[in-house]
This record gives sequence, structure tokens and C-alpha cells, in this order.
Amino acid sequence: MSMQASWIAPSILSADFARLGEEVDAVIHAGADLIHFDVMDNHYVPNLTIGPMVCEALHRHSPDTLLDVHLMVSPVDRIVADFAKAGATHISFHPEATEHVDRTIELIHDQGCTAGLVFNPATPLEWLDYTLGKLDLVLIMSVNPGFGGQKFIAQSLEKLRAVRSRIDAQSRPVRLEIDGGVKVENVGMIAAAGADTFVAGSAVFESPDYAATLKAMRAAIDAAR
Ligand code: DX5
Ligand code: ZN
Repeated sequence: MSMQASWIAPSILSADFARLGEEVDAVIHAGADLIHFDVMDNHYVPNLTIGPMVCEALHRHSPDTLLDVHLMVSPVDRIVADFAKAGATHISFHPEATEHVDRTIELIHDQGCTAGLVFNPATPLEWLDYTLGKLDLVLIMSVNPGFGGQKFIAQSLEKLRAVRSRIDAQSRPVRLEIDGGVKVENVGMIAAAGADTFVAGSAVFESPDYAATLKAMRAAIDAAR
């Protein structure tokens, strides 16, 4: 496997929303590589979370922190520029949530961000056929999107392996991210299946010691790769 350095991205969906800036500082200090920012609209997914204003506030609070924005909204295009202006680093979206997938990828690039395509558990990988050459990141959902704290769907491992070989068959570097139900106990087998970027919400923010949890995750990832 020709893989990039592994990144752990705590999802602030499980952080204390009343103390978001401090929570971001704490996980970055504890060893997180970037912050996963879940945007939900009560339309594409049955939950409502945070938008560009919160992104901008966190970016102002912590300008060097990389923000991994996961859009679970429909439509997608109108909100892309708002997140780019708000300091997003990566912007990922679901192909079912936009009318023209290729146009949305270009829009994200035009706004100066890297672009990711997100696959729900039942979304086929055919969406990669004409997009992989342009993508910077592929995000495999290992739960159905909408909530933190759900159980990891084991079938996602097979999907990760399939995407890994598609990425390795081309020369451009593309990150392979996993999101949903990632824990210290299963992150090793997820890394072995080919992921290099690991979102973890409840596993980090519901643990008493962020640094110890991130350290244990990293050790399990390193042992598996
Ligand atoms: C779910 C979100 C995830 C969520 C993961 O729709 O996309 O990023 O925060 O939470 P855990 O790690 O608790 O499954
Ligand atoms: Zn997410």
C-alpha cells in the first residue's frame, strides 16, 4: 500500500458545544491532526448542527487548525463558498445531495479548498468512475449519516479495501477517510483495510483523557499499517 501519513480527525459533533473553542484547542493539543466539522441540515439528514458562522468563529479562534468540513446538506453548491470564506480546508459532500457532482467538485476547487466525495453505506463506488481523477479525498461512511455514537458497519471494511486499490492504481495522492463508529478497539483493522484518515467523535470526546485516547488510536493504526 502506498499510503500517506495517518491523520486523526476528532469530530466536534460530540464535543461540548457550549465550549467549542476550548474543545478544539484541547484535542489539537492532545495530538489531533485536524478537526472534523459535521454540517447537517434536517433535510438531507435528520439532524441539524452547525454552519459557516461557527466554522468562521473556530477558524478565527484557531487559525492554524485544519478544518475538515463534512457537508450533509442538500443542495450543496450554494453553501460551498460560505465555508471556503469561513476557513474550511477540505470540503466533502454526498453525491446524492447535489445535482451535478462534477460541477460541485470544481466549485470546491475554485474556492481554494480540497474536495472529497462521501459514500453512505449503501452508496455504490461507481460514483468514483469519472470523479476519482479530480478528488483529493474519498470518505467512506461506516454509519448512516446524521448522528454520532452509532455502531460501526463492518461491511465498510470491504469498501475501504476496494477504494484503496482504486486509489493505488492511479498516481495522484488521494486521502481515504473513514467516518462513523471508529474506536480504539477497531481502528487497527480499519487502518489495515486501507484508511489513512480517521474521524472519531464519541470515542474521543466522551473519553476522560483526549491525549491518551488519541495516543492509543495512533498506536493501533501504526501497528496495523
Ligand atoms: C455522522 C457524522 C460523524 C460523527 C461520527 O453523520 O458524519 O462524523 O460525528 O461520530 P462517532 O465517531 O461517534 O461515530
Ligand atoms: Zn462526519
